[in-house]
Amino acid sequence: MKDLKARSNLVYGGIEKAPNRAFLKAVGLSDSDISKPLVGVATTWGEMGPCNIHTLALGNVAKEGVRAAGGTPRLFAIPLVIDGIAMGSEGMKYSLVSREVVANSVEMVVNAHGYDGIVAISGCDKTTPGLLMALARINIPSVIMYSGTTLPGNFKGKPITIQDVYEAVGAYSKGKLTAEDLRLMEDNAIPTAGTCGGLYTANTMGMTTEALGMALLGSSAPPAVDGSRTNYAYETGRAVMRAMELGIKPRDVMTFEAFENAITLVQASGGSTNAVLHLLAVAHEAGVKLTLDDFERIGKKTPEIVSMKPGGEYTMYDLYKVGGVPLVLKKLADAGLLHLDALTVTGRTLGQELAEYRLPNVPHDHIVKDPKNPRLPYGGIKILKGTLAPEGAVIKVSATSVRKHRGPAMVFDSEEEAFRAVMEGKIKEGDVVIIRYEGPKGGPGMREMLAVTAAISGQGLGEKVALVTDGRFSGATRGISVGHVAPEAAVGGPIALVQNGDVINIDVDAGRIDVELSEQELKKRAESWKPKPPRYTTGLLAQYASLVSSSAEGAVLKPRL
Ligand code: FES
Repeated sequence: MKDLKARSNLVYGGIEKAPNRAFLKAVGLSDSDISKPLVGVATTWGEMGPCNIHTLALGNVAKEGVRAAGGTPRLFAIPLVIDGIAMGSEGMKYSLVSREVVANSVEMVVNAHGYDGIVAISGCDKTTPGLLMALARINIPSVIMYSGTTLPGNFKGKPITIQDVYEAVGAYSKGKLTAEDLRLMEDNAIPTAGTCGGLYTANTMGMTTEALGMALLGSSAPPAVDGSRTNYAYETGRAVMRAMELGIKPRDVMTFEAFENAITLVQASGGSTNAVLHLLAVAHEAGVKLTLDDFERIGKKTPEIVSMKPGGEYTMYDLYKVGGVPLVLKKLADAGLLHLDALTVTGRTLGQELAEYRLPNVPHDHIVKDPKNPRLPYGGIKILKGTLAPEGAVIKVSATSVRKHRGPAMVFDSEEEAFRAVMEGKIKEGDVVIIRYEGPKGGPGMREMLAVTAAISGQGLGEKVALVTDGRFSGATRGISVGHVAPEAAVGGPIALVQNGDVINIDVDAGRIDVELSEQELKKRAESWKPKPPRYTTGLLAQYASLVSSSAEGAVLKPRL
């Protein structure tokens, strides 16, 4: 018989721990409650926006599941950043930082209070990877549940998402949309609680929880307001107790094969480029050696079969109606693209779970295609390397039809400068907009350039202007957008050496991104390059900048020991 209370007994067991138990009795627990395994219910919650507004309620339902299965739950809330609100401002520098804050907060609460298991409830972009990182790091029985997307919005009878509002700002600046219509979109883009509706970062990472085997199959696609959410929350609470009894820990589940399954799902779905950064970081915590080359290798053999915004047509709600993530996984499994023997948190393999999952028998070819007749013969994310990005860069090929772009660089040392230039009409067809000093260390925090890319798209230049940055892109970005350029400008990467008018060559099929300068010229410029003074010298952003690693390694924090 396993000692399910091995951790909590160290904190609450024995005569000498009477004071510790007194604290629990003060919050209503009985001796019987304290004698059961203690399960932390980590819910990323706050009233800052719709993405996580419902997670506290779901956490309370998960508690019931834990109780029903013989545990004692302890709910706690973790702060988060709503990316869509921080976007385009200095505040966005906290977005990627918040992933570490989420991971560290769970580690802090769970380890400080000696919990035996974890239920984790995620929502907005950084919360899913932050929680997965924590689960891998702490490595006690754990189950995650993504809390679901918003229902689609509505503009004059047409379904819309927040992406349409961002792009409407660009269209308005060009006189292509009236202020009244922009207001109408603003009023109706997000009708319910839940995360942004397309296959942007939150939904992409939500989907990966199932492919990794860390969540119950089918739990990520139901919208936040769907009735099944409550049931999934309850069952997630029960599942963590079962995982404890079976002795299944996150690192038993998040193996190299599980990450390959997750990458395959992302590549097949046209998911967010942020998934690259986040899966590298989660793998790092799980002790799994994953590299950018794994994304490229899997992308080459995985057809893109899902048509979801921003590259395709549909929303997460549409995917839910036809069968959600299990439908996509089944298609990939039938094509022999998944490791079906990968263990999941239930103690059964992914193959066993998929075999028993009941799919709605409805037409779905409009959104999920057969791998033999895919949207694209390759995956949605491509890794580029070259003289501009020796360590690597990332492009979402499903969000653009352009395979080659060659043009003069227009260089900006911050997102704000670039946005101003776009809104003032200074960017012309053929240009390559370079936004640098926005990397993990330089930003710090790798801001997402959605405001800039959406304004470019809104001006009708999305397929005619390339954007290259050491920062990131939102999952809602489309167009020729190359991000995560590494090494970043702040550490003297080649992107720091580019000058206005230098010719940049992007060749997706060749997997290259180059600046057309001789080796000698690059060397000469490197010799005279000087680092910029850090933007922050105190506080969280300064702490982050001093510890963060390259985006090619997932921008994980590396403590100096
Ligand atoms: Fe939270 Fe988009 S802003 S999911």
